[in-house]
Amino acid sequence: MAGKGEGPAIGIDLGTTYSCVGVWQHDRVEIIANDQGNRTTPSYVAFTDTERLIGDAAKNQVAMNPINTVFGENCFSICISVVSDLDLAYLGSTIKNAVVTVPAYFNDSQRQATKDAGVIAGLNVMRIINEPTAAAIAYGLDKKATSVGEKNVLIFDLGGGTFDVSLLTIEEGIFEVKATAGDTHLGGEDFDNRMVNHFVQEFKRKHKKDISGNPRALRRLRTSCERAKRTLSSTAQTTIEIDSLYEGIDFYTTITRARFEELNMDLFRKCMEPSEDEEHKKKVESKNALENYAYNMRNTIKDEKIGSKLDPADKKKIEDAIDGAINWLDSNQLAEADEFDDKMKELESICNPIIAKMYQGAGGDMGAGMGGAGMDEDIPSAGGSGAGPKIEEVD
Ligand SMILES: Nc1ncnc2c1ncn2[C@@H]1O[C@H](COP(=O)(O)OP(=O)(O)OP(=O)(O)O)[C@@H](O)[C@H]1O
Ligand SMILES: [Mg+2]
Repeated sequence: MAGKGEGPAIGIDLGTTYSCVGVWQHDRVEIIANDQGNRTTPSYVAFTDTERLIGDAAKNQVAMNPINTVFGENCFSICISVVSDLDLAYLGSTIKNAVVTVPAYFNDSQRQATKDAGVIAGLNVMRIINEPTAAAIAYGLDKKATSVGEKNVLIFDLGGGTFDVSLLTIEEGIFEVKATAGDTHLGGEDFDNRMVNHFVQEFKRKHKKDISGNPRALRRLRTSCERAKRTLSSTAQTTIEIDSLYEGIDFYTTITRARFEELNMDLFRKCMEPSEDEEHKKKVESKNALENYAYNMRNTIKDEKIGSKLDPADKKKIEDAIDGAINWLDSNQLAEADEFDDKMKELESICNPIIAKMYQGAGGDMGAGMGGAGMDEDIPSAGGSGAGPKIEEVD
């Protein structure tokens, strides 16, 4: 990650609820812990009469000082400087270079604003990377030994306040965002809120008192609920214990994972919709591409103009391959996108060289070669996009 002799770079992931900073050290990425020992820092900044509070300290006093607390997008540029301050303290050096991640759906002006915020914070923003791309790199998906040819990756990012699903393709280390979906107002904080409401009701039932008008009690309850939610990711049940929550009353209770899921079921369902959509869309595209290619190729070789110019053995080879692919399609209608893609490549690798050879052999009288004007009806096209077939290099 080192720039041109300018020392190492830090990587900044600015979230609307939490932010995180990493640095390349000892041959791997190290996520920097903040002064509380946490590897993510709440994206909060607060101003008191005398000081500026950041991260956990700012979040903890939000109920007492709500007016002077900024969080989410509002504190974006402040957060960048704050987060980089954290790093500098940790690294004890003058790191100037940074790589910053942004949501894949950010437009150019949002990306520029991110860069500007970095510059204001005294950083040289070397690169803006899409968050899903960064995630894929972090999981080493660009380097996996199995990745031959193009590979599709679905990134599911459920944050504190936003939910993003992105479909990427990776080919030879190049990432391309094919589609983004999600919900800009759905995240972990909504699950916390459901739990908070649940316990406000429970407190009412048990103690005949309404805590919903008391910001401090609500904030303490919310903090406990977030912790309980995290615990429920690995256990089936957890407890909430808050001393003197309201009017001196202690609040001790339990919640099961099943109950938590029930409270949030509609929100969880919302999280599944876009990924199913995206996956489904890709699957249908891949299946259609294979079907179109196979049937177009079958028509192509049936056409006398072309069929008669093929070497009979080659023609038979193509026919067998097409029959094989069509039979395979009949019995694999529910296959995954990459199964269709693989089958497509297999079929192309048999048919395309033969067709290309025929055009080469035919010379001038067959037109200007593959993809030439006037040849379109004769050439099987991949998918409905109108793109011609990919012709592999022929020796
Ligand atoms: N182990 C866990 N189980 C369940 N939820 C968790 C766990 N760890 C963190 N969370 C929740 O994840 C959310 C924060 O996720 P993340 O750090 O990705 O958000 P973010 O990037 O700041 O948000 P956004 O993507 O919306 O900008 C919080 O709601 C937090 O409570
Ligand atoms: Mg995020």
